[in-house]
Amino acid sequence: MGLEKLVIRGQKRLKGEVTVSGAKNAAVAILPAAILTDGDCEIENIPDILDISILKTIMIGLGAKIQYPNNSSMKISTTNINAYTATDKQIGKLRASYYLMGALLGKFKKAVVTFPGGCDFGVRPIDQHIKGFEALGAKVEIEHGEVNINAHRLIGAPIYLDVVSVGATINIILAAVKAEGITTIENAAKEPHIVDLANFLNAMGADIKGAGTDVIKIRGVKELKGGHAYSIIPDQIEAGTFMIAAAATHGDVLVKNVIPKHMESLTAKLQEMNVRVEEYDDSIRVFCKDKLQKVNVKTLPYPGFPTDLQPPATVLLCRSEGTSTITEGVWDNRFQYIDELKRMGANIKVEGRMAVIEGPVRLSGAPIRALDLRAGAAMVIAGLIAQGETTVSNIECIDRGYEKLEEKLKALGADIRRSTKE
Ligand code: EPU
Repeated sequence: MGLEKLVIRGQKRLKGEVTVSGAKNAAVAILPAAILTDGDCEIENIPDILDISILKTIMIGLGAKIQYPNNSSMKISTTNINAYTATDKQIGKLRASYYLMGALLGKFKKAVVTFPGGCDFGVRPIDQHIKGFEALGAKVEIEHGEVNINAHRLIGAPIYLDVVSVGATINIILAAVKAEGITTIENAAKEPHIVDLANFLNAMGADIKGAGTDVIKIRGVKELKGGHAYSIIPDQIEAGTFMIAAAATHGDVLVKNVIPKHMESLTAKLQEMNVRVEEYDDSIRVFCKDKLQKVNVKTLPYPGFPTDLQPPATVLLCRSEGTSTITEGVWDNRFQYIDELKRMGANIKVEGRMAVIEGPVRLSGAPIRALDLRAGAAMVIAGLIAQGETTVSNIECIDRGYEKLEEKLKALGADIRRSTKE
């Protein structure tokens, strides 16, 4: 699998319709959240991606029973889970495995979980997660690459996050949902997948208010039941990736199964660049006829411009007239992929947390590497606009989070194929 590459012959305009899958970052929280319930949960609109199959294997290892009514749904029964230790080799591979901490702690008041892995873009601390668990009364020790968490009782508490963290917000919700009394998270993250997780838990009987604002209030409940089916929201980042790819290839694409509200920061920037964006109830059409204008972008927690669209946006800005800048406001070091773009002729300078992009530049095809999930998507978009042939290696990273990316692009007219040969 590691030898697979995507081979792209560029300069084809993307045209047609594409349907976005369920949100990865919601699914990787909602599956572990099912551990907290005492009945069967049926979860729909789950993306078929590598991160989910790893998570599924981990959950089965813990004792969960998982059935597939169809390709994008799972019926999960967690009543047989009796282990609070998740230290399988697989776990280190998956950043989101940290949600097993909150979920197992919430269920058993104990958890032993391998320190999380995931994409490498600078230090990825979990101090805010730990601070939250401790505030609820748990003791946390990190030893031999494992996080060991233990509580006699979990008691609701006020928690102020020093940094806006998606992971810490979700983990604290998971740990607090069955705690005694009330937990408030202040300076909470507001991403759509946090709202989705809270909606899922509330549907199972939790009492969570304020998700989507920066103060979340969780009143602990004794029991969460399984029960009716829950459908995961569409993937904001996958939708954004297709919107950017449509603009970058000067195409005309209807992106279906999106929540236009989630796309507002991107839509605004695309319009500022001269890209046409039409919003419908649950789809967005992106097309482009004019020259692209330079813009300045800064990534921020939601509702700001998403950091996960920063690498694809950089590729798009290579086509804009003039000097654009992108400032990374979330991660310390998320510009490593720019060296790959330079091999294709991009004119980009990185100054600390800012990338300065001179355009327009005609990229030329080259062998390049996907350094992480979203950088990988950016490399694919670069291949789509470049002259000649681009081969993207290390695509396992892309498979972690994009469902059938090359098939969806092919259906839009891209010349892209997966190759196992050199
Ligand atoms: N941070 C801390 N302490 C913590 C936690 C985070 O200092 O305890 C800092 C981080 O170093 C970073 C910032 O806070 O500078 C934000 O990190 P956050 O915790 O929000 O990130 P995350 O939960 O680890 C999720 C997504 C990422 C996405 C970020 C930001 C999942 C599984 N991952 O990561 O998605 O970039 O939020 O939106 O939900 C991706 O999908 O490709 C991806 C990397």
